[in-house]
Amino acid sequence: MGIQNTLEGSNTEIPEIGALDVDKIKQDFPILQRKVYGKPLVFLDNAASTQKPLQVIETIQQYYTAENANIHRGVYYLSELATQKYEHSREIVRRFLNARSLKEIVFTYGTTDGINLVAHAFGRKFIKEGDEIIISEMEHHSNIVPWQILCEETGARLRVIPMNDNGELDLDQFRNLINSRTKLVAVVYVSNSLGTVNPIKEIIQSAHEHDIPVLVDGAQAVSHYRIDVQELGCDFFVFSGHKIFGPTGVGVLYAREEILETMNPFRGGGDMIKSVTFERTIYNDLPYRFEAGTPNIAGVIGLGTALEYVENIGYEWIGAHETEVLQYGMNVLSEIKQIRFIGTAQKKAGVISFVVDGVHPHDIGTFLDREGVAIRTGHHCTQPVMDHFNVPATSRASIAMYNKKEDFDALVRGLHKIIKVFS
Ligand code: ALA
Repeated sequence: MGIQNTLEGSNTEIPEIGALDVDKIKQDFPILQRKVYGKPLVFLDNAASTQKPLQVIETIQQYYTAENANIHRGVYYLSELATQKYEHSREIVRRFLNARSLKEIVFTYGTTDGINLVAHAFGRKFIKEGDEIIISEMEHHSNIVPWQILCEETGARLRVIPMNDNGELDLDQFRNLINSRTKLVAVVYVSNSLGTVNPIKEIIQSAHEHDIPVLVDGAQAVSHYRIDVQELGCDFFVFSGHKIFGPTGVGVLYAREEILETMNPFRGGGDMIKSVTFERTIYNDLPYRFEAGTPNIAGVIGLGTALEYVENIGYEWIGAHETEVLQYGMNVLSEIKQIRFIGTAQKKAGVISFVVDGVHPHDIGTFLDREGVAIRTGHHCTQPVMDHFNVPATSRASIAMYNKKEDFDALVRGLHKIIKVFS
């Protein structure tokens, strides 16, 4: 028997998967059944965005078909129902992250929005001229630029943890960077362009030895790893719904209650206030203080279904399956002698980046597309990573739980064809 969402109006049955079978999972994703250019779609761009299971699509359809109303505002039936569903998703997220309290779960528009929220609401209050923020060389632009803007405004300074040529952070250098001026460490858990899994717990522990708060960019981690914010001990954790089989335009900021309580508001507007006069505004309680304006209600509710879907499959299975597929991918790709891998860390998840001698990544992407194989080519919003490896761009195949070894066979077939054309 599947897990039945017990809220009124919900017809979303989430199947229990006993003897797990990737074909069974794939059946839940309608888009994976389609063809492009007459070829079966092989989707290997999950680091950019994951596909959505029918359960998520139906949840959103159900919301707009039968439940749509604004939340926290109406005393009428639909408004209360929408509010109940929205807040139920907050509880799903709390449980998913193992946060202590619902007050620690702020809905955002995505990872980028969550980082910007912290840069404004925490950064502008606590980071001053001469202070330092530590990030790493492998950050996505979304975990670089908000801090650069903050530094320009405040006179604070950005410090960068270097990485080696395997794409692994140098933790000794990290510890050397910490000093009395360090006010925040903001580091990615899993690199979107290299696949490196950073020793995030160790990083958090080192920072905490000096009472420095840590923000974890979990965008690429959440679809591969179980997240327990209490076990990690992080102060902030951000992720996007669309990277974990949920909708775009919705994300989560987890922040420890004690720290959230001290932060300035970010956006001003409706719902984040208790009372407003022209003289004075009293802000709302946590977490609503950080959710100004009408949020992406359908997105939040859809995200709840996506997280339940993943929990039901289970990270044990996901981890074991993805490790096998990723290893297979590395093996078959390494048989192509023109390939050079970019990112060969010992601990990797989800991502294989590579360049092919004599063929520009954009030509590879365009050619593979005609074969039905979707990968991302470019700098992956990590230009400093490209600079480190002295390449303008890479080709990147990134997997999710529905990928199979044969997806890499299709990729390899396509690569052989294009190498032949260019040689
Ligand atoms: N951050 C997304 C990626 O890595 C867009 O492709």
